[in-house]
Amino acid sequence: MAIDTLTTIQETRARLDEARAAGKRIGFVPTMGFLHDGHASLMRAAREDNDIVMASIFVNPLQFAADEDLSDYPRDLERDTELADTNGVDILFVPTVDEMHPLGPVLTTVTVDEISTRWEGATRPTHFAGVATVVSKLFNICGPARAYFGEKDYQQLAVIRRMVADLSIPVDVVGCPIIREDDGLAMSSRNTYLTPEQREAAPVLRRALDAGIAAIDHGATDPVAVVKVMTSFINEEPLAELDYAAAVDAATLETPDVLLGEIRLLIAAQVGRPRLIDNAGATMGL
Ligand code: PAF
Repeated sequence: MAIDTLTTIQETRARLDEARAAGKRIGFVPTMGFLHDGHASLMRAAREDNDIVMASIFVNPLQFAADEDLSDYPRDLERDTELADTNGVDILFVPTVDEMHPLGPVLTTVTVDEISTRWEGATRPTHFAGVATVVSKLFNICGPARAYFGEKDYQQLAVIRRMVADLSIPVDVVGCPIIREDDGLAMSSRNTYLTPEQREAAPVLRRALDAGIAAIDHGATDPVAVVKVMTSFINEEPLAELDYAAAVDAATLETPDVLLGEIRLLIAAQVGRPRLIDNAGATMGL
């Protein structure tokens, strides 16, 4: 079946309601476009688990602060449609801002407290409310489904999981592994902003995470010690400026006194124009 591009909420809802009435399972991959292999892996996972796969492309103004790159966020609908088609998407939902927000400014905001305020939320205070608001709207348009998100944006995944649980949204959230370039750099649409020198320096984030995981494997249970190891790696790279390194509980994203259970190492650094983020998981024996 060739991919179908839909631009209205009404038509998209009708198509998915019809599919569900026929007993079909829906897989949903929300995106902001400029798709790469990371998105393709989410689409393939959705294809594997479901009968109908929908992806959305909507560059969501609510999650950009005034000084962020909304107007020049990279876009290429033709290429995106081809990538989505090749990776098993049946329906590509591509609404305009007017279609999503016909009444103009959005007066209703979904805020997930605590998880949204730390790490990325500390430098981007309005970001996760923008994400949670648009994702809840997209979930309302899509209806009951499985929705696929990359672990690359780990805090976003934690925020969305908590929102779905708190609001009893009938969507199963599926987290999918980070897809990396050969040298370890996590794939991201923002990597296109890196100059060749910065691109060469960027995998330092992955090396810092590997060093943190190695410290844990060697018995480190103090989050401060693990953060110190990660920080020293970033500080050795002149083109990278550390924003934060953290060793946190995987669900709450709080720093525990002692690392125990499901742990996530988080890192963010400015490398030239883009601020890059990455993360890695570890399980500490109980
Ligand atoms: O991860 C993204 O691309 C966006 O934050 C999302 C989830 C599509 C919401 O706009």
